[in-house]
Amino acid sequence: MQFLITGVAGFIGHAVARKLASQGHQIIGIDNLNDYYDVLLKQARLENLASYPNFVFVHLDLANRDGMAELFNKYDFDRVIHLAAQAGVRYSLENPHVYADSNLVGHLNVLEGCRQQQIGHLVYASSSSVYGMNAKFPFSVTDNVDHPVSLYAATKKANELMSHSYSHLYKIPTTGLRFFTVYGPWGRPDMAMFKFTKNVLEGKPIDVYNHGEMSRDFTYIDDIVESVVRIMEVIPQYRENLAYIKSTHNDNKAPHALYNIGHGSPVCLMDFIHALEKITGKKAICNYLPMQPGDVQRTWADTDDLYQVIGYQPKYDVEEGVYHFVNWFRNYYRI
Ligand SMILES: NC(=O)c1ccc[n+]([C@@H]2O[C@H](COP(=O)([O-])OP(=O)(O)OC[C@H]3O[C@@H](n4cnc5c(N)ncnc54)[C@H](O)[C@@H]3O)[C@@H](O)[C@H]2O)c1
Repeated sequence: MQFLITGVAGFIGHAVARKLASQGHQIIGIDNLNDYYDVLLKQARLENLASYPNFVFVHLDLANRDGMAELFNKYDFDRVIHLAAQAGVRYSLENPHVYADSNLVGHLNVLEGCRQQQIGHLVYASSSSVYGMNAKFPFSVTDNVDHPVSLYAATKKANELMSHSYSHLYKIPTTGLRFFTVYGPWGRPDMAMFKFTKNVLEGKPIDVYNHGEMSRDFTYIDDIVESVVRIMEVIPQYRENLAYIKSTHNDNKAPHALYNIGHGSPVCLMDFIHALEKITGKKAICNYLPMQPGDVQRTWADTDDLYQVIGYQPKYDVEEGVYHFVNWFRNYYRI
């Protein structure tokens, strides 16, 4: 099949592209290679992909309306995996406009391309951050998510609503995936796992927010890739006879579905730091700080719905995942 993967130089995009390219699919990957974090890391991920003859890279910004229309005219995509976005909760306080360009205008341009080509299935990235300060655990896709605590989260919730409307109007099958703290080799330098590992290995202090009183549903990259590849073939159907629309649930008239994609078990931040200490053999110097604006204290995914449709449960616990990450980090940065 021919796939469009957006954000292909990114952490998750590159890993998904590698898996699909190794299975022989034709991959057209786009990215604007922005400098939100180390561009060399993005280029190194693309170098990995360049070894596949069935991989083509297009340097393109999602917000470039004409460029995106040309891309959809030029190729005949069977599936679209839309992972490009301006990520990061904290950065959305500093540079809000880039979130509107990449996540709102960009998402609309992807939807428009999918409409013009009547794409077989669009799978796109949402985020656990849509749950905001919800206090009912674990987080379920049936929970109300109308109270985002960052602009980033608001754009992700907007993506879900925009996608639903296109699925309803034009019968385009769309599936939103709410990712929960993805980590692993080739990971993002702006995320805790990366920053902590770097500083612990260099003997520098790490910033521990909310005095360590946080927990995250850490999800290893290989589990994410396996789930994304499987969900591609679970195509939501238009259900003509359904008389009602429950917009937050998969009981939908429109061919739109939403899933949590997480490990399904939260890990306390301090346990995570202890795992890192054990694997690196170094003591972390913790700089305890208050909670950051826009951040949430706890995440925990209810993944029953996803498991029911893809039949796959995450295999990596945090100790094994941290072990693989630290190995990669040491090799890549020669530390
Ligand atoms: N990693 C996580 O823990 C996590 C959690 C929740 C949601 N997500 C979502 O998953 C998706 C992938 O995340 P990631 O961790 O791989 O992030 P990433 O930043 O590594 O990858 C995103 C890629 O998109 C590209 N990009 C950004 N804006 C663009 C634009 N306007 N045009 C073209 N390319 C653009 C970036 O250059 C980058 O390479 C994102 O949508 C993110 O919001 C990730």
